[in-house]
Amino acid sequence: MYIDTHTHLNDPQFKDDFEAVLSRAKNAGVQSFIVSGYDQKSSHLAVSMAEKYPQIYATVGLHPSEVNPDTINIDWIGNLVSHPKVIGIGEIGLDYYWDDSQKQLQKEMFLKQIELAKKHQLPVVVHSRKAIEDTYNILEQTKHYGIMHCYSGSLEMAHLFIKLGFLLGIGGVVTFKNAHLRDVVQQIDLNCLVSETDAPYLAPHPYRGKRNEPQYLREIVNEIALIKQVSSEEVQKKLIQNTQLMFARLKL
Ligand code: NI
Repeated sequence: MYIDTHTHLNDPQFKDDFEAVLSRAKNAGVQSFIVSGYDQKSSHLAVSMAEKYPQIYATVGLHPSEVNPDTINIDWIGNLVSHPKVIGIGEIGLDYYWDDSQKQLQKEMFLKQIELAKKHQLPVVVHSRKAIEDTYNILEQTKHYGIMHCYSGSLEMAHLFIKLGFLLGIGGVVTFKNAHLRDVVQQIDLNCLVSETDAPYLAPHPYRGKRNEPQYLREIVNEIALIKQVSSEEVQKKLIQNTQLMFARLKL
């Protein structure tokens, strides 16, 4: 059995075949989904999906690429966090790859959302792209815990994030040949990993380039098992335990 700890079933790409995507995932052994919001609308949608389906949970937050002077009012996050199926704040963080014109504002909004998470004792789900040092500095300063979603940094940074209280979210990249993430997975204790698809993005091999779906989580977990030379069943069990320990509101 698998848990997709980070998926965007709230993405418009799943609008037309949502039920089919869920049933394919179920047939592939995916028992639960954490649907991640990235702005106000997608966060509300994640929560309404979580209300309708027992196997869906939500995280709510403002993604760094959605940060601009028009989106800085995040009162809506404060209104959603007390919902019992909102189990974390995310995805939040820093992204200097797509647009680095709002660096300062991104940092401010990242900080604000971490403070909210601390206040409500919820983990943060962190997105970091071309911004690993700034991300680390903020997390070190705020002293909170959570998941480094779709981790792709170095082994050295991985150890530092783990020391702060973070788990590494491992996605489809781990199935790509020559990905340095494979070395990171090999070297890092299984206790520090969780599995995710980040669907509809980043489909694992052999579906690379296609729309990703939670059903492909199996490929990701099997790859982790291969790299670590442990049975897939053992990896599945461990990843579910890790997820449960991170998300106190998750009821499996
Ligand atoms: Ni994501």
